[in-house]
Amino acid sequence: MEKFVIKGGQPLKGEVMVAGAKNAALKTVVASVLTDEEVVIENIPLISDLFLMVETAKRLGLSIEIDKKKRALFSKGGSLKTNKIPLEVGARIRTSSMFLSPLLSRFGEAVIPNPGGCRIGCRPIDRHIEGLAKMGAKIYYDPSDGYFHAKAARLHGVDFTFSKNTHTGTETLILAAVKAEGRTVLTNAAQEPEVDDLIKLLNSMGARIDRVEQRKIVIEGVKKLRGTKYKIMADRNEIVTLAIAALASKGEVTIHGGKREYLKAFLAKVREAGGGWEPKGEEITRFFYQKNFRPTEIITGPYPSFMTDWQAPWALLMTQTQGLSTIHETVFESRFLYVFELRKMGAKIDFFDPQVSHPQKFYNFNWVDKKQNCHQGIKIFGPTPLHNAILEVSDLRAGATLVLAGMIAKGESTLFGVEQIDRGYEKIEERLNKLGADIKRIKN
Ligand code: EPU
Repeated sequence: MEKFVIKGGQPLKGEVMVAGAKNAALKTVVASVLTDEEVVIENIPLISDLFLMVETAKRLGLSIEIDKKKRALFSKGGSLKTNKIPLEVGARIRTSSMFLSPLLSRFGEAVIPNPGGCRIGCRPIDRHIEGLAKMGAKIYYDPSDGYFHAKAARLHGVDFTFSKNTHTGTETLILAAVKAEGRTVLTNAAQEPEVDDLIKLLNSMGARIDRVEQRKIVIEGVKKLRGTKYKIMADRNEIVTLAIAALASKGEVTIHGGKREYLKAFLAKVREAGGGWEPKGEEITRFFYQKNFRPTEIITGPYPSFMTDWQAPWALLMTQTQGLSTIHETVFESRFLYVFELRKMGAKIDFFDPQVSHPQKFYNFNWVDKKQNCHQGIKIFGPTPLHNAILEVSDLRAGATLVLAGMIAKGESTLFGVEQIDRGYEKIEERLNKLGADIKRIKN
């Protein structure tokens, strides 16, 4: 167990390189299982979620290693020894459920633990299962052992329409369809850039995948995939975190890496709020504080909308604006746990329930899962100077937000649950310290 001790008050200044995208890197491990040839992935972030995915692939028998110096992942292919993901690995990382697709295609059979809920919501995989079943997989969940058991001699192509957006659900079905018999057409498919990054990787392995319309993807099944070398995209969520760190600390930071095209909804809100940003190169953007932040109204949504992953740091920024800001979270049903921590620091944030005429349709999560005590909206009354506090991290993005909160607060804050942050941000404290922050990692 480790904690951060953060001394607040320093504006961030300088230049920083963004890491490779967590939500692209994790899926490259799953894709590597689809071939018995060598796959090399470059620009990987050195984060614990990726280490767990690699450990899971090793348990399956894949010969796979991370070269930390080269920031590269080497999968040597070869045969696998099991089609079952053990509970002790699966329970530690939800994305391990995505191995279902390549295991089905290699063994015709797969056993994976129920990924279950986590602290941002129930997070079922019913949409993944429904699609795989349409492709011919017989899947049942055995409550007596907690595993999904899936069988399919060979998956076949299908026309499938997702009932609602699902990012990893779309990726799971793409991973299943690449080696299925015939053509698969996925309608209402997710548009997140990380999905397209996976498509590019798979196509470089010989897959035939085409996004024919914004939300329609066509996959022609192929018999075999080959090895490849592929460089993954930059992490959009990290760019947003670093940009907000610059703005909230009243500093200025130039971020190297990442396409602005993927950040349109964020950049528009920064302008609306009176924050500064300017292009400094094709993939270089400078973010800087300008006087007098203005309040904003945010509704999160699937890409290209304002991402759910950005709302927690944005809420922190809004605590520093003059007036009332609102955030309406529509993707996950429980992503406001950080609010209780920000309140400990003096933030004035109230929960509210936005009025929505057809919640079952409107929300991205399954409305039937909705817990009575979860709210979908917050009101932020600013500006409130923040002060130090003892804080607990609930999830990855909440954790990064609390680091930033500690950085702009008066006094010294202590943050427990740092391992949640290490899941998705590589050495966040070292990189922020290089920009002028004062964060110490302490082993308990
Ligand atoms: N959902 C269902 N059933 C399904 C699939 C999804 O009810 O079968 C619900 C989810 O519970 C959620 C909503 O639908 O309420 C959207 O879920 P989606 O499947 O789109 O999200 P995800 O694939 O589980 C990925 C990222 C998240 C990111 C979201 C939104 C990865 C590994 N995770 O999650 O990233 O917030 O898409 O873009 O790619 C993070 O990085 O911290 C993170 C949570």
